[in-house]
Amino acid sequence: MTLPKNFLWGGATAANQAEGGIFEGGRGLTNTDLMPIGEDRKAIAFGSLDNLERRSDYFYPSEEAIDMYHHYMEDIDLLAQMGLKVYRMSISWTRIFPNGDDAHPNEVGLRFYEAILKKLREHQIEPLVTLAHFDVPVALIKKFGGWRDRRMVKAYVNYAQTVFTRYKGLVKYWLTINEINILLHQPFVGGGLIFKEGDNIEALKYQAAHHQLVASALATKIAHDIDENNQVGCMLAGGSHYPYSCRPKDYLEAIHRDNGEYFFIDVQSRGYYPSYALKKLEREHITLSVEPEDERILKENTVDFVSFSYYSSRTVSGYDEDYATTTGNLFKSIKNPNLPSTDWGWQIDPLGLRSSLNMLYNRYQKPLFIVENGLGAKDVPNEMGYVEDDYRIDYTRQHIEAFKDAVEIDGVELLGYTTWGIIDVTAASTGQMSKRYGFIYVDRDDEGNGTLARTPKKSFYWYKDVIASNGEVL
Ligand code: BG6
Repeated sequence: MTLPKNFLWGGATAANQAEGGIFEGGRGLTNTDLMPIGEDRKAIAFGSLDNLERRSDYFYPSEEAIDMYHHYMEDIDLLAQMGLKVYRMSISWTRIFPNGDDAHPNEVGLRFYEAILKKLREHQIEPLVTLAHFDVPVALIKKFGGWRDRRMVKAYVNYAQTVFTRYKGLVKYWLTINEINILLHQPFVGGGLIFKEGDNIEALKYQAAHHQLVASALATKIAHDIDENNQVGCMLAGGSHYPYSCRPKDYLEAIHRDNGEYFFIDVQSRGYYPSYALKKLEREHITLSVEPEDERILKENTVDFVSFSYYSSRTVSGYDEDYATTTGNLFKSIKNPNLPSTDWGWQIDPLGLRSSLNMLYNRYQKPLFIVENGLGAKDVPNEMGYVEDDYRIDYTRQHIEAFKDAVEIDGVELLGYTTWGIIDVTAASTGQMSKRYGFIYVDRDDEGNGTLARTPKKSFYWYKDVIASNGEVL
């Protein structure tokens, strides 16, 4: 048998794309509640459009999402039927602290997640909980300008401490900040940053990054102090960079671009700023505002494991030539002529997952966890409402084969695998419902119409067999 017996097979969702119910249970607004479907979404994500008030002419997909707020229990029953060993979810910060830094937590919010976590435990499903999955309380964006301000550290750490304390014994695996490198690409989504004319955008992003890194390290410390069984991971939007050709400049560019993304994980895993990052800051005359204790905090509180999302590799060149480009998770890439693409232009590269696992394991020598992977595709239910998603099964099978080889042949230590959007959720990039990843279909369209009924797809039954056989039956 290739995979260890306790391998964590599972699926993932996030509060902002699944829950809805944004005005219920005393919840406060968060950054993703302000991201409409349509043209302005990108500018808002990049922090170039100030949009802190909700508008009646916008449609906000997160407002209802798939209404998991009211469907959580039946959804968990379905996950249990699939035989999931682990379920990755996120806690919505503003359900616990509606303004992000209230004097007392909101008991309704704490009870809401407590019931979910207990239900998972009843089904022997291990929760894997992300503290902030694209989640910056709007009140703190208004008050502090988001993560550019050091006071965010205190607010986040207090939130983390509150949930670690309350859910002690219910949760063992925690992720501090989802796809932490998104801060560089979509600063509003990752850090609640909105830029004004004349701002030094690069300096603000790295200052916000420093605050997140310190906050993540402090949360890691507190998690360990509260319960020595807690395992805390960092989370990277993964996918290695390929050089477009074997020309040396292309290869060097690939190394530089990898460094650019791994910067966060380097700090969280090794405990100090890598020299290439210090040089970059120096070169660009960016002086970070740092507290004397920060160096020690980062050094002493590295993560227990490294988690990442993987949708594709990326391709880059060191030459300023005219290449066809393609969209991918969070940022553009040169189109790799050797790879097929999804309907949304994301390139499909299962072997790239094995390469990424090797690269990350060599770099950090810590257990890895693939916490997102999947195919965003249009599903068309038949007249019985059933989706025969063989394309999704093929995609997932190829990626599972790739990580099995990484474990068996390359010796990578891998804790588990959670497919993204195990149940259809709204897409983070576009807000669309029609970009579906799930093994469970949700009846809802891009305009918010539909019964919200849940129906297992063909992939549901396939994945059930995969899990039951610990990945032997593919
Ligand atoms: C990752 C995010 O960026 O990719 C998820 O962590 C997101 O929240 C996923 O949904 C897939 O991206 P998209 O845009 O297809 O939903």
